[in-house]
Amino acid sequence: MTGTAIVTGGARGLGRAYCLALSDAGFRVVVSDLLDGQSVAYEIAQAGGEAIYVTADISSAEDNVALASAAADAFGSIDVLINNAAYFSETTRGPFFEVPEMEWDRTFEVNVRGVWLSCSAVYPYMREQGSGKIINIASNTCFKGTVGFPHYVASKSAVIGLTRCLAQELGPDGITVNTVSPDLIPDPSLRPADSTSDEFVVAGRALKRTQVPEDMIGTILYLASSGADFVTGQNILVNGGAHYH
Ligand SMILES: NC(=O)c1ccc[n+]([C@@H]2O[C@H](COP(=O)([O-])OP(=O)(O)OC[C@H]3O[C@@H](n4cnc5c(N)ncnc54)[C@H](O)[C@@H]3O)[C@@H](O)[C@H]2O)c1
Repeated sequence: MTGTAIVTGGARGLGRAYCLALSDAGFRVVVSDLLDGQSVAYEIAQAGGEAIYVTADISSAEDNVALASAAADAFGSIDVLINNAAYFSETTRGPFFEVPEMEWDRTFEVNVRGVWLSCSAVYPYMREQGSGKIINIASNTCFKGTVGFPHYVASKSAVIGLTRCLAQELGPDGITVNTVSPDLIPDPSLRPADSTSDEFVVAGRALKRTQVPEDMIGTILYLASSGADFVTGQNILVNGGAHYH
């Protein structure tokens, strides 16, 4: 595979895994995050790939425009956008009526408005090319209505709706827009509660094991490839058979 892929939230966690995998597959990678993602770009370069790091807050229109422009300036095209950044690990859990209003707003600002803004920023480049693949990350939580963080679940459900709208609108431009929804992929260093929840989650899956970042890679690379040229508006659950839709 060739081309340029932008990964938002690429500095750590699943985003980092997507950056490394896309580079291994042949993409030039733009690692973007609020956090410093320089080390991920360096790791890719050390392995013989091409990558740049661009700092951006995806809830900011200006940052998204600057990110798209930096990607096109560095590599000449924008072929894939992975909307992975999210207000997630920092989300507090509790009864729905106790979600702080500011946290509700920030969740939607990053997880929904951020995805809309980053799609808007890359669109002129993809339209000009007559091609592009946008992959939005939602969550399996949308399909089970996980209790404890309704703002997050509602925001990810909005991403699935936004994906469908954009698939319809951008199809005539040759751009595909899809969603991938992981189940719980524990990171106890960031989210200690993951460790205790995982046992319960694993028990509810057809495939009885902990989900790991590598489980996401095949689906991400598939949707970024020409093999998925006729696939758009879809949501692929990568969840070990926890839920079906
Ligand atoms: N890990 C899971 O269990 C799981 C399950 C379902 C869905 N997801 C989704 O997968 C994606 C990655 O999850 P993760 O586990 O790697 O989480 P994470 O918290 O480790 O990574 C999120 C990344 O997004 C970045 N980010 C946050 N706000 C940003 C902003 N405004 N602008 C730019 N970057 C920003 C963070 O700095 C971080 O690097 C998220 O969209 C998350 O909702 C994760």
